[in-house]
Amino acid sequence: MPRCFGVSGTRDVKMVKLLVIVAYALCLLINVEGSKFEGIPDEALPTSSGYLTIDEAKGTKMFYVYYEATSPPGNLSETPIVLWLQGGPGCSGLLGNFFELGPWVIGADENFHPNPGAWNRVYGLLFLDNPVGTGFSIAPTPQDVPMSDEEVGRDLYIALTAFYAQNPGFQTRTLYVTGESYAGKYVPAVGYYTLLQQEKETPLFRLGGLAIGNGLTHPQAQIPAYAPAAYYMGLIDDSQRKLDEKLAEHVVKHIESGRFDLAHDARATLMRALYEQTGLATLLDIRRELDYYTYPDGSTWLSPVVNRKSTKLALGAELTITWEDCTDFVDLAFYNQTMQSTKYMVEYALTKLPVLLYQGQFDLQDGVASNEQWMRKIEWSGISDFWASERRVWENGGVTAGHVRTHGNLSHVVIVGAGHLVPADQGLRSQVMLEAWISGSLASLPSPVASLTAVKKSKTNCPVITPESL
Ligand SMILES: *[C@@H]1O[C@H](CO)[C@@H](O)[C@H](O)[C@H]1NC(C)=O
Ligand SMILES: *[C@@H]1O[C@H](CO)[C@@H](O)[C@H](O)[C@H]1NC(C)=O
Ligand SMILES: *[C@@H]1O[C@H](CO)[C@@H](O)[C@H](O)[C@H]1NC(C)=O
Repeated sequence: MPRCFGVSGTRDVKMVKLLVIVAYALCLLINVEGSKFEGIPDEALPTSSGYLTIDEAKGTKMFYVYYEATSPPGNLSETPIVLWLQGGPGCSGLLGNFFELGPWVIGADENFHPNPGAWNRVYGLLFLDNPVGTGFSIAPTPQDVPMSDEEVGRDLYIALTAFYAQNPGFQTRTLYVTGESYAGKYVPAVGYYTLLQQEKETPLFRLGGLAIGNGLTHPQAQIPAYAPAAYYMGLIDDSQRKLDEKLAEHVVKHIESGRFDLAHDARATLMRALYEQTGLATLLDIRRELDYYTYPDGSTWLSPVVNRKSTKLALGAELTITWEDCTDFVDLAFYNQTMQSTKYMVEYALTKLPVLLYQGQFDLQDGVASNEQWMRKIEWSGISDFWASERRVWENGGVTAGHVRTHGNLSHVVIVGAGHLVPADQGLRSQVMLEAWISGSLASLPSPVASLTAVKKSKTNCPVITPESL
């Protein structure tokens, strides 16, 4: 299999581009058939991509795709790198890459389109197919797939070490670990593993912070929020709410007695009930008539494009692998893990690093209420000051873009107009949020100007309400 884009170890974008062009030309020469990367514009090609060895003996390898920053504000050697992890368990990082926050995304027309909300505007951007067995990553047998969040943390550390060893020029660039949904477990896991490892050795990379979008992190606090959220969004009635609350109690009871297998099934029962009661196409975004990246017949528009031979060649992926957006045997390996908590890992990270938790507001599953419920359980020295600090309205271009609360190492952002896949729904807002968080300026995102607020208040002629005035 020709590996066309294993370019690495350079800090110079121009050099990378030159190498990419040379590699592209070589690929054209070497491959007789399927040699042009048909359907992919040259500008959409990654800076580098390929495989990182996780366990030589087992033959496990993690697939990665890296895009250099398109407009780094300064010296590339100081430009941060953002890692993105998909959830599932078992969903491919290429979902994020080609549907949410990569520089080019695949549309319903099965073509690549430039993404104005891309997360590699001012940062390098790394996608991983994690854990092994997911997407284009390689796990020779289902037994080679990790079965716990802790093992995922270890494997991600190994993958990152391999990536930075290949790219010594990147070692001065701070790494921000981000991800979505079930990555609410992975992000803390790799953060925690790295922070503990730092006490024994100097990692090849410098961790800068952790960010989780619409995450599942502490299920026993999160699952009980499903039913009230559905009720107050107007999706179920009061008797259905009571039934669903009972189902959620079963989940919590099984978690508390350590029967995570039963908890897994009880949650599936709850989710099935919610689907039946609401008729929603997806709990991930209550507005959608069709699930994300899905045609009316239920098939996805990403698979046909990612599985083209030309796409695999362009990415340097194993041609023999049939890519799936989410891989069932990986999900199955996590059967007894999904309902376990990584809250303690986040609490540890908060003593060392900035942590951002953000959610799109139309997600019924891992949305705002579900996340605030577990955030209320966080134990950390800054937590009461965090809750005491103001929750500000964030305005962008004259409209409300979100809500921001930030204090010390903890930040919380709600993105208006987004469901579970925030960068897919509100790309530009997600980009502004990411860049503000990494540059430490979340607290100074614009709020509605005072004069306008005064006009709004005078219109309604209502006094300002504070907890004290009630
Ligand atoms: C970029 O940063 C590196 C390392 O910090 C430094 O050696 C180099 O001189 C800088 N280059 C420029 C153009 O500032
Ligand atoms: C999950 O746990 C149950 C009971 O503790 C056990 O019987 C089962 O084999 C486990 N399943 C997996 C996939 O680990
Ligand atoms: C926040 O993180 C910094 C390191 O960035 C650490 O020194 C500090 O102790 C942390 N703050 C709290 C309250 O844990």
